[in-house]
Amino acid sequence: MKVDVLTGLQWGDEGKGKIVDCITPKYKIVARFQGGPNAGHTLEFDGKKFVLHLIPSGVFHNDTLNVIGNGVVIDPVVLARELDDLEKLGVDTAARIVISKKAHLITPFHKLLDAAQEASKGSSKIGSTLRGIGPAYTDKVARTGLRIGDSERDNFRQRFNNHRERCIDTLKAMGAKPESTLALEDEWFEALYRISELRFVDSEYDLNEALDKGERILAEGAQGALLDVDFGSYPFVTSSNTTTSGACTGLGISPARIGQVYGIFKAYCTRVGSGPFPTELHDAMGDHLRKSGNEFGSTTGRPRRCGWLDLPALKYAVMLNGVTGLIMTKIDVLNDVSEIGVCTAYKTADGETRRLPWDLNDAIPVVKYFKGWNGSLSHVAKEADLPPQARDYIAFIEEYIGVPVIILSTGPDRTQTVMLKD
Ligand code: IMP
Repeated sequence: MKVDVLTGLQWGDEGKGKIVDCITPKYKIVARFQGGPNAGHTLEFDGKKFVLHLIPSGVFHNDTLNVIGNGVVIDPVVLARELDDLEKLGVDTAARIVISKKAHLITPFHKLLDAAQEASKGSSKIGSTLRGIGPAYTDKVARTGLRIGDSERDNFRQRFNNHRERCIDTLKAMGAKPESTLALEDEWFEALYRISELRFVDSEYDLNEALDKGERILAEGAQGALLDVDFGSYPFVTSSNTTTSGACTGLGISPARIGQVYGIFKAYCTRVGSGPFPTELHDAMGDHLRKSGNEFGSTTGRPRRCGWLDLPALKYAVMLNGVTGLIMTKIDVLNDVSEIGVCTAYKTADGETRRLPWDLNDAIPVVKYFKGWNGSLSHVAKEADLPPQARDYIAFIEEYIGVPVIILSTGPDRTQTVMLKD
């Protein structure tokens, strides 16, 4: 058996949580492989809305095990809060969630460093979620990080104290004056104790053994390809590999064991935080997409920047991820847009190109307009129910990208999902 992967193809917020929840019944295990509490995966069913930051989106299904993989960075305070919220809903979290012993911890000092680093950048700040992601991954790569498994060792307090000293020195060198952190540390250790009710496991063994037994696994990505630390709009990116290769390193799965790759994208584009966004709309249409699509960050509440779908960027993301099936979300947000724009190429000094410039600041989009369908899609249960204009829009995307759209999401609820192809 192989691991199927679901990854975001834009700047995150494509609707991964909803789709993972919808397809989870096909899988025995759902595993997160990168990112951390910067993610906000939203699920809606039975008239209720849930936002998950660290826990995989398969958690609402009784028979599914949810793995937080070694590639994830974990803030115990956020995770403990999520566990409490789920338990109030009757979810048996201890039975349904396990954590890799190799996953790294985000401490209160990582969050202080994140804030100090952003402040020091002034107008060139990244627009980080300030959840401590960058500093935690920096410690991992610098080989000074603290891991979930370390928290069970006798010398953990000493290692934490060393970490505190290192971070405080750095903060001081940056001119930041850390106030007493005792309350933050107490809260953090209390949360660490709370999450130790979950099983800390050698998840790379568990996942590979599950595959050997014929069990199906879904790897759930966070953020999106254009935020990937190697291939995104650097330096305005997150600090992990958000693409399919991240699932290999973030779970301990060989590339040969990757099966289907589902690439998810919105029918238009959004971005939260700073950085280039070639198809951004600074006009009434941008405001309309924001309002109609409720485009406000599910982690930070910040308004998202909105613009037209960018096909060269989407094709680039499909190439990087090895996407075998596309999932298109939020098509309903375009219901009353009479002229739908799509970027089909970029202008360069040498003419038009479909290649993404290495520096997105240089990308001047060429936009083609499609007739909208001006009506609701709430009745759509199968491909044939789609208005012809919506079918044309989808067909153009499929042709351009060379990969079929297999699932269409027409609203936030589980039930508003149309399976176009098997
Ligand atoms: P960080 O990952 O919090 O350091 O943020 C780096 C950049 O990625 C910022 O522009 C964030 O707004 C963006 N970002 C991080 N996580 C997400 C996400 O889950 N959805 C959308 N944008 C994100």
